[in-house]
Amino acid sequence: MARARICITVLLLFIAILTFQSQVKAETSMPQIKHDSKILQESIVERINKNATAGWKADMSPRFSNYTVGQFKHLLGVKPTPKGVLQSTPVVTYPKRLKLPNQFDARTAWPQCGTIGRILDRFCIQFDTNVSLSVNDLLACCGFMCGDGCDGGYPIAAWRYFVYSGVVTDECDPYFDNSGCSHPGCEPEYPTPKCARKCVKQNLLWKKSKHYSIKAYRISSDPYSIMAEVYKNGPVEVAFTVYEDFAHYKSGVYKHTTGDVMGGHAVKLIGWGTSDEGEDYWVLANQWNRSWGDDGYFKIRRGTNECGIEEDVVAGTPSARNVVQEFSDADISLDASI
Ligand SMILES: *[C@@H]1O[C@H](CO)[C@@H](O)[C@H](O)[C@H]1NC(C)=O
Ligand SMILES: *[C@@H]1O[C@H](CO)[C@@H](O)[C@H](O)[C@H]1NC(C)=O
Ligand SMILES: *[C@@H]1O[C@H](CO)[C@@H](O)[C@H](O)[C@H]1NC(C)=O
Ligand SMILES: *[C@@H]1O[C@H](CO)[C@@H](O)[C@H](O)[C@H]1NC(C)=O
Repeated sequence: MARARICITVLLLFIAILTFQSQVKAETSMPQIKHDSKILQESIVERINKNATAGWKADMSPRFSNYTVGQFKHLLGVKPTPKGVLQSTPVVTYPKRLKLPNQFDARTAWPQCGTIGRILDRFCIQFDTNVSLSVNDLLACCGFMCGDGCDGGYPIAAWRYFVYSGVVTDECDPYFDNSGCSHPGCEPEYPTPKCARKCVKQNLLWKKSKHYSIKAYRISSDPYSIMAEVYKNGPVEVAFTVYEDFAHYKSGVYKHTTGDVMGGHAVKLIGWGTSDEGEDYWVLANQWNRSWGDDGYFKIRRGTNECGIEEDVVAGTPSARNVVQEFSDADISLDASI
């Protein structure tokens, strides 16, 4: 039962905005010919799949079959967090007291929280209810604090906005428009939406639709602390550097093998394990749809800070404010502990 309750602190995030981003301005350093070439290359697939020590398999992912390098880079909107922000964010470290399992997967640890396993931008889990938060609110209304709207943002700043301003539900301010297009995910890129502070549905109030986080924090980069946080409180948001070969990922334990830097990307870390070959890995949910990678998921080498995956780990603790009214106080106090 305790496990079920812990589900309330499994907090998942605004990854979608950080990934459906455009990064138009950052392209200047790349030659136009490379910018316009296709992101997927048979030569990369061959090179990875022939390499017995690569540890992972590549394919020509249908998700990116028509993407140029420039378009692929549009999906990668994470900016390095400014120093001042980093220094003022609390860092959680776990002393090595708890014996953690060799293998862990948040999807099976909290099966009642279906949104953990949802690949597209659904936010799960507070107080045993499914809450889906508005990406649009964050994208349009967080302003320069979160970064640069559709041109990218800082993961920790999104969590801080969640603490101080709250985020309305997706029902109030949906991410998808009438034609089913995700905003700003439809091609060609959309400009950053205007902050309207008004629910689309007439009967919903903006202020009442806000949900909050109690705190926003970073987790120490040592793998044990990251594991302990996921084990106790649920998935965390991580950022890492995407190289060209990553677009071709199909299965196995990814590590960078070939290709140039494409940009920074935020994803959801949901578990860990060790492969049959004895390689430690993290399990992550990407937002590139199920047609990419291992049904939308991927594994990456654990314990060596592969592509910076262990460097920038952030999370928050959901607040009971404006969530279903009928909670007992006992329920609410539980989520205040990290
Ligand atoms: C094969 O993969 C290993 C591990 O990633 C790497 O060190 C090596 O350079 C790769 N070889 C080729 C030919 O790409
Ligand atoms: C890619 O482009 C080709 C030709 O322009 C088109 O026929 C095909 O449907 C496109 N594929 C996807 C997945 O959009
Ligand atoms: C969340 O929604 C899914 C289906 O939409 C449902 O299966 C699941 O039980 C719900 N979880 C909770 C905690 O209400
Ligand atoms: C997302 O994945 C589903 C299932 O594989 C597929 O039907 C759909 O076309 C994909 N959408 C995109 C944009 O790739």
